[in-house]
Amino acid sequence: MINIPKGTKDILPANVHKWQFIEDIARITAEGYGYREIRTPVFEHTELFRRGVGETTDVVGKEMYTFLDKGGRSVTLRPEGTAGVARAFVENGLQGGVMPFKAYYLISAFRYERPQAGRLREFHQFGAELYGAASPAADAETICFADAFLKNLGLRQVTLRINSIGCPACRKQYHEALKEYFRPHLAEMCPDCNARFEKNPMRMLDCKVEGCKAYTAGAPKMLDFLCGECREHFGTVCALLDEAGIAYTVDPSIVRGLDYYSRTVFEFTSEAAGAQGTVLGGGGYDGLLAQMDAKPTPAVGFAAGIERLLMVLEAEGAALPEASATDCYLAGLDPASRKKAFLLAEELRREGLACETDLLDRSVKAQFKYADKLGARFVAVIGEAELAAGEAEVKDMHTSSSERVAFPQLAEYLKAKQDV
Ligand code: HAM
Repeated sequence: MINIPKGTKDILPANVHKWQFIEDIARITAEGYGYREIRTPVFEHTELFRRGVGETTDVVGKEMYTFLDKGGRSVTLRPEGTAGVARAFVENGLQGGVMPFKAYYLISAFRYERPQAGRLREFHQFGAELYGAASPAADAETICFADAFLKNLGLRQVTLRINSIGCPACRKQYHEALKEYFRPHLAEMCPDCNARFEKNPMRMLDCKVEGCKAYTAGAPKMLDFLCGECREHFGTVCALLDEAGIAYTVDPSIVRGLDYYSRTVFEFTSEAAGAQGTVLGGGGYDGLLAQMDAKPTPAVGFAAGIERLLMVLEAEGAALPEASATDCYLAGLDPASRKKAFLLAEELRREGLACETDLLDRSVKAQFKYADKLGARFVAVIGEAELAAGEAEVKDMHTSSSERVAFPQLAEYLKAKQDV
């Protein structure tokens, strides 16, 4: 027997309704904010992520599923959704369309990480991207959208932390300050941090190596280096969130793990998610399109990990919907009645009722047991006498009472009883 690859999971029929619940809430919330769905390929040219997500990030440096296709091209399974959406936005000429452009996605993404609870190699994201609005209101609306999505799911114990990581102009000064701070400690820091020191010292701040974390904690904070415009932008984002009644804390340690971010960044975390506490993360990324050689366009977005949302929903004991059950099980007692049960089930399904009937030649007792397992609300029994009378004996499994119902009235009867 060949096993499932490490870091991947099957989503089985018994659990899929929980996924569908999250997906439904995602779609409804997104549409309320004016977003429409976008679907892009699972794989892209490797270069897109190298340039978009950034060479010095863990995602690009260590975690990508990259391979040569049969034509010798280097392709990569998407490690996230933003770069592909940005490419599609430019490639389909949408930059010239109505602004702002808003798109959401429900995708699987791939990162070669060390698997643990809430950290997989194939995982799923709900994400959203907004292009063409540089205003603080665009960032604030995006954060309100993320917050509404989590609240609509029923989550109550998530906390929002926000920060500003400035623009390339003010970050230059910050990089110098970081270098000055880290220079005396370089010999004790990991080889990755030493490489990041030259190329992108801000990446040193999200190093996961314990020895390095001791130094990053005391590093200078970007908030102290913001230029006037970035400071004002962030101030307005915070003021809008205050007025909208969104609870948050400003946390200067949030830098995000991908290179494209600028200005506002944010994360929603939950204690219930354990070590992998971030359930949703995002921010502005005004520089990404220019980096892809397209016309510069302001952008902001977020993505949430669906596996982590499920973990947190379950840990919080949030009310998840039940799987949909069978409306009516049709039990036939003899060959002629079984055939009638089969045909009646087809008729009832055409009327929009969820029905099942026997496919295994089971005894009546076994059929009732099976109907019970399905959670069928009604069992319609047909034997020789019922067949002759053109009726079924319909048992309400909630009340254990039963009634005779003529075959042609069965659909109407079940529909009327369903909501009682
Ligand atoms: P990210 O922070 O890398 O951002 O991922 C977003 C969310 O995806 C995380 O908060 C987490 O819930 C989930 N996630 C990430 N990696 C894994 C994993 N290995 N296993 C399970 N869940 C995971 C992005 O991906 C950005 N593209 C978000 C964004 C959109 N920023 C702007 N627009």
